[in-house]
Amino acid sequence: MEFGEVVRRRRMVRAYDPDRPVPEEVVTRALEHATRSPSAGFSQGWDFVVLTTEQERERFWSAATSAEARERMDPWLRGVRSAPCLVVCLSDKEAYLERYAEPDKGRADRDEAHWPVPYWDVDTGMAALLMLLTAVDEGLGGLFFGVPVEHGAQTVAALGAPAGRRIVGVVAMGYAASDRDRRSPSLRRGRRPVSEVAHRGAYGRPWVGGEVRREVEQG
Ligand SMILES: Cc1cc2nc3c(=O)[nH]c(=O)nc-3n(C[C@H](O)[C@H](O)[C@H](O)COP(=O)(O)O)c2cc1C
Repeated sequence: MEFGEVVRRRRMVRAYDPDRPVPEEVVTRALEHATRSPSAGFSQGWDFVVLTTEQERERFWSAATSAEARERMDPWLRGVRSAPCLVVCLSDKEAYLERYAEPDKGRADRDEAHWPVPYWDVDTGMAALLMLLTAVDEGLGGLFFGVPVEHGAQTVAALGAPAGRRIVGVVAMGYAASDRDRRSPSLRRGRRPVSEVAHRGAYGRPWVGGEVRREVEQG
């Protein structure tokens, strides 16, 4: 698929065909693409726990949701639980502190004050986006969703991951169940146009380019 089409087609899918597993080679391709993601100092402080069997996914859902939520099984949870593949994206802050303590970076104090932006989470998020785009390119759908803060530590433990890891989010993947999938009501907010979010030269001067610029000139 042409790159622009992949980007335009990408949207979050919240209901999947549970009987159509994600082909192993698609999962592998998504993971390979994730490892092509940029990372500060090439620290690559990410791990991806891939859950493809029912037992593995159940272990995740039991840890990541409350018994009450599972009982209630609202449409969101019912839809997302039908995803045949979950990739839990973990970030590793220590990998960055260690990498930047190396001589070429020279932050031997390992002081977190050097990190006003937690690049371990940023980089892991970028990797997740590459997985979402790969799913679209392969004709599948994907969703990035978070684990509630009160379930974070126990979910990390349930996955057998080291305690210092943080769940940045989870990429669900599968074939969309178009009849059950509902778009997020948040989309009613509308997409902010480039001319509003992008500033030419300095904040406040809108970036007007391409089609938009021509319209302005003509009008
Ligand atoms: C960091 C992040 C966290 C998100 N968390 C959730 C979530 O927990 N549940 C969910 O259904 N969607 C989640 N979303 C999806 C957004 O609702 C969605 O991207 C947004 O409404 C725009 O829709 P689109 O991605 O389909 O274009 C998340 C997206 C991002 C980037």
